[in-house]
Amino acid sequence: MTEDIARNLQILNETQPDPRPIRPRIIALANQKGGVGKTTTAINLGTALAATGEHVLIIDLDPQGNASTGLGIDRNKRECSTYDVLIGEARLRQSVLPTAVPRLHIAASTMDLSGLELQLGTERDRAFRLRNALGVLNGTNPAEPAYTYVLIDCPPSLNLLTVNAMAAADAILVPLQCEFFALEGLSQLLQTVEQVRSTLNPNLTIHGVVLTMFDSRNNLSNQVVADVRQFMGKKVYDTMIPRNVRISEAPSHGKPVLVYDLKCVGSEAYLRLATEVIQRERELRASEFA
Ligand SMILES: Nc1ncnc2c1ncn2[C@@H]1O[C@H](COP(=O)(O)OP(=O)(O)O)[C@@H](O)[C@H]1O
Ligand SMILES: [Mg+2]
Repeated sequence: MTEDIARNLQILNETQPDPRPIRPRIIALANQKGGVGKTTTAINLGTALAATGEHVLIIDLDPQGNASTGLGIDRNKRECSTYDVLIGEARLRQSVLPTAVPRLHIAASTMDLSGLELQLGTERDRAFRLRNALGVLNGTNPAEPAYTYVLIDCPPSLNLLTVNAMAAADAILVPLQCEFFALEGLSQLLQTVEQVRSTLNPNLTIHGVVLTMFDSRNNLSNQVVADVRQFMGKKVYDTMIPRNVRISEAPSHGKPVLVYDLKCVGSEAYLRLATEVIQRERELRASEFA
């Protein structure tokens, strides 16, 4: 099945990829609203990137653990989780589990994560726990794959977990649901990104905004798209993820939608989004070296 995905993405491989960076590109999927498509995008963008040959690690930073469950990771397999990593009792590699998708791995989460903020209290490095853990992710052991992409699935809140993600990330990818209050939440999120940039992580950028659960028959959906494009300009990806029942069914089977039903419109949209993300990465890298 994943070979099918790879074939669909062959066009991406026709242009020779850059030499593998030693450091992965770290992208945090953030939006303080719940139910906007963060986890769905982490799982399916991760799957599409892995299908093109990238080595992808998804880091589940939500105590709900939906990314872990959606990728078929049983709760009893999560002996070592992102909680253990952030609390300082395990290395990130120890929490990594393989998924059914080749080259796609996950650092799973458990409910323990919800107590982290209280536990870390006023520790001076509390916002840098994830950054420090990621700093030694790609080691020198040739038996361990060097990850090229890390996708961080954030919780629906601007709490210490999201701040850790923003302090560790190169860029933020914002899933935005096509609904009335979308823009209101976006300004608050952008303010937080600005604060993190001026204090914890000066290199942080906005990778892009992806509109999710788009329904072309709905006038409101179309109006939200127009407003977001006017407000965020080129930062909005051309690809919009349509509302699609196959996308919502896939997690209950513990599979990415790309594996559950490769041909559905939801899978096609996530494949296109991956193409855009890779393209944007090339542009970002080119401008870094210019
Ligand atoms: N494009 C879509 N079409 C239909 N359902 C979707 C779509 N994207 C997400 N969903 C469903 O909406 C719910 C919330 O999505 P999720 O990715 O978990 O959001 P978040 O991580 O931001 O809370 C889930 O039940 C998911 O299956
Ligand atoms: Mg989620």
